[in-house]
Amino acid sequence: MPTERILVTDALPYANGGLHLGHVAGSHLPGDIYVRYQRLKGRDVIHIGGTDDHGVPITLAAEREGISPQELVGKYYQSIARSLERAGIVFDNFSQTSRPIHHETARAFFTRLYERGWFVPRETDQLYCVKDQRFLPDRYVEGTCPHCGYPRARGDQCESCGTLLDAIQLIDPKCQICFTIPEVRKTTHWYFLLTRAEQDLAAWLETKSHWKDNVRHYCAEWLRQGLEDRPITRDIEWGIPVPLAEAAGKVIYVWFEALIGYISSTKEWAARTGQPDRWKDYWLNPDCTLVHCLGKDNIVFHAILWPAMLMAHGDFVLPAEVPANEFLNIEGQKLSTSRNWAIWLEEFLEEFPPDPLRYYLAAIAPETKDTDFAWKDFQARNNNELADSFGNFINRSLTFIARYADGRVPPPGDLQGDDRAVLDALVAAPDAVGACFESFQVRAAVRELIRLGNQLNKYFNDQEPWRTRKTAPDRCAATLYVCAQAVRSLAILMAPITPFSSEKVWTMLALPGRVDTQRWDNAADQGVPAGHQIGKPEILFTKIEDAVIDAQIAKLGRPAGGKEGSGQWAVGSGTPTPPAQTVPSPAAESPSVPPDTISLAEFQRLDLRVAEIVAAERVEKADKLLRLRIRIGSEERQIVAGIARQYSPDRLVGTKIIVVANLQPTTIRGIESQGMLLAAADEDGVPLLLRPDGDVPAGAKVK
Ligand code: 2FM
Ligand code: ZN
Repeated sequence: MPTERILVTDALPYANGGLHLGHVAGSHLPGDIYVRYQRLKGRDVIHIGGTDDHGVPITLAAEREGISPQELVGKYYQSIARSLERAGIVFDNFSQTSRPIHHETARAFFTRLYERGWFVPRETDQLYCVKDQRFLPDRYVEGTCPHCGYPRARGDQCESCGTLLDAIQLIDPKCQICFTIPEVRKTTHWYFLLTRAEQDLAAWLETKSHWKDNVRHYCAEWLRQGLEDRPITRDIEWGIPVPLAEAAGKVIYVWFEALIGYISSTKEWAARTGQPDRWKDYWLNPDCTLVHCLGKDNIVFHAILWPAMLMAHGDFVLPAEVPANEFLNIEGQKLSTSRNWAIWLEEFLEEFPPDPLRYYLAAIAPETKDTDFAWKDFQARNNNELADSFGNFINRSLTFIARYADGRVPPPGDLQGDDRAVLDALVAAPDAVGACFESFQVRAAVRELIRLGNQLNKYFNDQEPWRTRKTAPDRCAATLYVCAQAVRSLAILMAPITPFSSEKVWTMLALPGRVDTQRWDNAADQGVPAGHQIGKPEILFTKIEDAVIDAQIAKLGRPAGGKEGSGQWAVGSGTPTPPAQTVPSPAAESPSVPPDTISLAEFQRLDLRVAEIVAAERVEKADKLLRLRIRIGSEERQIVAGIARQYSPDRLVGTKIIVVANLQPTTIRGIESQGMLLAAADEDGVPLLLRPDGDVPAGAKVK
């Protein structure tokens, strides 16, 4: 049971693109539902958020869009804040880590830890791109994860196994600006002595036995592997300058300061609401329940790094809950912004109202394992559960009262067994549903609500008010009285999940105030008195047609056409790329340019190379496939190509071809293919190899 004062944070999304449904399902919706519930419980809860404006995700995106980091974060802050608002995700404060209040707070935090001896400078090896003449921290490099072998691990973290990485650890690292192989140079960074906090952290985590299994298991695994001191400064220009004279030109590592953003945003809220010290009631209050909502890739930062930072600082409350979610897949595949295998919140809300989305994401919340957003399932749940169960019960109850009782709630008269059973179910519901919200089990809350909705529809059917209206008016009156109470209860109980619809129901019931100012514990009160005049019933949830869903499915994985942002080519599936309508590419702005035109910068992201075939063999039981060993400069790799029918393996050896060298590896017939050769079909559709016209060295770039 939380204390009466609760501070809920949602992971701060990078301001480098629009929000997709992974963000919503992972942190923002769970945070919003929890806050709405706690507010109905009468607790003093605030919801704190903002955008993460620094670090390599921002500078990379700014470079790609050809604007300054400052412009970039300003633009995406607006679009992120707007789509969250449209989705009904309400914050007490939604800040930016690029604001002065955060810079001050983060620098003060840093200085405090420095003074307490938590940082030491160390000379270290760092990847440096000779071509771009810069160090390559974090996501400026991608390569193979040394722990799990994932081939596109980013320099800061492997998104496949979650391990925190130093870019120098990557196997086959590549600069993400120019895709060349970086070299190693020396630089000095300040390290946070995470090892010093290890024992205290382990002891503290022991006290979190009630945390979700997934979170506890991740933490246990990190502790088992042993923590390492982490460099918390970086050699880039965009960020918060390290407040040490000897660290001129360096900025604080984005993760180190972004976490402090939760404190800065709370301070901003306090100042904005005219009580500048109020943030202390939360952060400096050991009885405040600090809740961090996030996705699993952020667990290590919130459950290990952040508590260690807070312990080192000493003044602030530690996280009480870290209810991290697993990932949301889309139609059975991992969400990938680079392939546009994503559903963008802003686009979604152009087509559908927010509550069906909130409801569906709550019903399939990835609480214990990755789950799947499937458009047909979304349609089915909207149509069968929201429209046919909840909506139907509410609509027929209110319509009946409006039509046959002059819109006045009839008196209950003598309530009978069935009537009492429904009223009893209403009395049991706030605790049953509330226990689910309290323990971050939103899926279970939805199941409880569905059960209640089914019971209510059955009651309406069994009571047959359309018959008793003529044969037993007192029975009909009792039924409608009970139904009116149930509609009110449902409005309150569903408000955390479907706030817009609940508010509509409140208006239809013509009850005073708003649903979101009611009390959860009074949800089962018989709060619609006999004789009360209700408002005009309206359809609450509309069904979604097949054609609408089919059109959405067809959009998946397709480049967003003329409207796509330059982020379409963003590297790393964890880097959100913008929703189509927020960042028109130059092509989209000019009607004379065909919609599938790409910019020069986009073309340049393709690493086309001349390669020499050094060995070739047929792939067993695949009469079209050849396994080729190719050389690109000094590097050798293998690719699998469907050219066995027209080329015999021995005649290919020594041939030079053109390959896409920076294509994500894929597995064909169990063989990893680390690139793709270029071919063009002849008149019969037979693919023929493209070859350089002359003696070009293997490894030469095709431009
Ligand atoms: O993973 C991310 O998208 C990070 N921007 C989350 C930061 S959460 C907190 F530290 F601010
Ligand atoms: Zn480079």
